[in-house]
Amino acid sequence: MAPQTNDGPLALAVIGGTGVYRLAGLEDEEAHQPVTRYGAPSGPVRVGRLAGRRVAFLARHGEGHSVPPHQVNYRANIAALHALGATRVLALNTVGGITGRFGPRVLACPDQLIDYTWGRVSIYCEEPGSDVLHVDFGDPYTPSLRREVMAAAASAGVEVVDGGCYGATQGPRLETRAEIARMRRDGCDLVGMTGMPEAGLARELGLEYACLAIVANWAAGAGPHADEVITLEDVLANVAAASSGLPDLVGAMLAG
Ligand code: HPA
Repeated sequence: MAPQTNDGPLALAVIGGTGVYRLAGLEDEEAHQPVTRYGAPSGPVRVGRLAGRRVAFLARHGEGHSVPPHQVNYRANIAALHALGATRVLALNTVGGITGRFGPRVLACPDQLIDYTWGRVSIYCEEPGSDVLHVDFGDPYTPSLRREVMAAAASAGVEVVDGGCYGATQGPRLETRAEIARMRRDGCDLVGMTGMPEAGLARELGLEYACLAIVANWAAGAGPHADEVITLEDVLANVAAASSGLPDLVGAMLAG
């Protein structure tokens, strides 16, 4: 069949996090290098076909993982996907687990978040003369897209925990035990460094946005071995293992 990557609307945009630098199954890829008024995104936006639908993929940290969480140009990333016609974003976020259901290798689709980041450019409407936006953010993740993720997971036979609260920290260092204990008291189930401002910016531009969190480790002081040291090797191995169901899950989303 002839490649068809340039026609039709984008069915989905996927943003990959730590350990997910390409979208498995994406065919007939074209690499776009958009430059937005906010600057360049983290790397090329790869547009191709998956399950017969047009899909875009962007590695949040760059394909060689060169951009740390606090330096990601979140505005450029979301603006670039929007400019390419994305209306729905599935964000893959590698996280640590804080509470019982969210151990290493679990996939979760959180329904709430708390933002602990600071000093990141977190809004679009900051240019002189632009309207001040107070976007509704009571449900930070689009409920209908979350339902689609959960339905796709069920039909693909991929286990995903439905719900949970994502706490977005500044990084790039990991947290102290006391910080994680505070986050647990606050109601966080998961901790990651990239959930914000990405979700807020997507809402500002009117994009549907859901997070599929990939639990790489127990957060500091959490889990059955509270004194365990978190290593990058463990994180990457757990992400690779937990990601094995992603192609089926994304495929089921596109088929649905
Ligand atoms: N904390 C913050 N971000 C993370 C973690 C963590 O423990 N694991 C993977 N991303």
